[in-house]
Amino acid sequence: MIPITTALTAEHKTFLGIFDQMERKLPGLRTATEVKELGQKLEDMLHRHAETEDDLLLMAQIAAPKFKNRFAKCYQDHNEVSAQFVQLHTTQHSTKAKRLLKEAIRHSRIHFEYEEHIVFPLIEKVVDPQTQTKLGSMRFLSHPSSQSVTSTRGLAD
Ligand SMILES: [Fe+2]
Ligand SMILES: [Fe+2]
Repeated sequence: MIPITTALTAEHKTFLGIFDQMERKLPGLRTATEVKELGQKLEDMLHRHAETEDDLLLMAQIAAPKFKNRFAKCYQDHNEVSAQFVQLHTTQHSTKAKRLLKEAIRHSRIHFEYEEHIVFPLIEKVVDPQTQTKLGSMRFLSHPSSQSVTSTRGLAD
């Protein structure tokens, strides 16, 4: 039985490894299409991760409205990273595509820090512990390490 915040933190660690691999791979990509394909895979995984967090944030916000602004920063980060991917998909220039993907990665790293140090501890305080472990177990079973980010083969090989 693991709390949902532990499962999400494990996913962050896997993402950090993927980010490093992608940054190593980026200089060798020649076309904007190659960069966008790589970005699409990352966007899909980050989106699934953020969706779970958005549901959790809503639950925490109902339980503790006084922390609304801290939770709102999380939603804002998710929207900003999504917007960076939208920009990436519209560019035809490989240099700009690389820059945008690097920025989305940089933003995500900072966002993970914020979640782990500010938001997850708050969630652990205000959401019912049984609910946290139930959600964590469900997440783990459906996405081991959660599964959504362990199947990274082909992403940056
Ligand atoms: Fe997040
Ligand atoms: Fe996260």
